[in-house]
Amino acid sequence: GYDAGPYLPRSGGLAAHRSAAARCQGCPLYEDATRTVFGEGSESARIVLVGEQPGDQEDKQGEPFVGPAGRLLDKALEDARIDRDEAYVTNAVKHFKFTRAPGGKRRIHKAPDLREVSACRPWLLAELRLLRPDVVVALGATAGKALMGGSFRVTKDRGALLRMPGEEEGAYVVATLHPSAILRASHEDREAAYAGLVSDLGVAAKALA
Ligand code: URA
Repeated sequence: GYDAGPYLPRSGGLAAHRSAAARCQGCPLYEDATRTVFGEGSESARIVLVGEQPGDQEDKQGEPFVGPAGRLLDKALEDARIDRDEAYVTNAVKHFKFTRAPGGKRRIHKAPDLREVSACRPWLLAELRLLRPDVVVALGATAGKALMGGSFRVTKDRGALLRMPGEEEGAYVVATLHPSAILRASHEDREAAYAGLVSDLGVAAKALA
């Protein structure tokens, strides 16, 4: 089956993992993506934000959350008084999955399936093991399931201070909406959805204090 496990270095820090991840072929997503987008941020981060997978811009630039969803996330972090420079930002899946618009060259985001999320999980767990953050924020359902298990529902447990399963003294987890879901929301719903994201991030910020 798909598994990034064999591509992980046996030792080394984030830099060693980042360069090994660049060569990952643990699932077929590496074939069509431009590059691996590994996590970025402070090595002493106490808060880690986990998205779904890189988007079109992230795939081109090689960094997480630098496109439209990233701009929204930056604003929400600022409103929740979380310093992005003191955070580490990554994704549950490290390659961009997409389909092409019929006839066109526009690349349309496609949600990763459970096999791809499970295959990529060793990278996410390695990042968390190396960073040992106090709080992990799951941005959306894919990150929520990667961190909390397949039956996790963001709609039900968002904004609550949870413990990551299987870790005695592990990090807190706070799940919230994905920034892209807010960008997709109708004009009438967007303001409330954004306020919800900021308020959930505030729960995470409070756990740091
Ligand atoms: N959406 C994500 O989930 N992650 C990114 O890095 C960009 C957009």
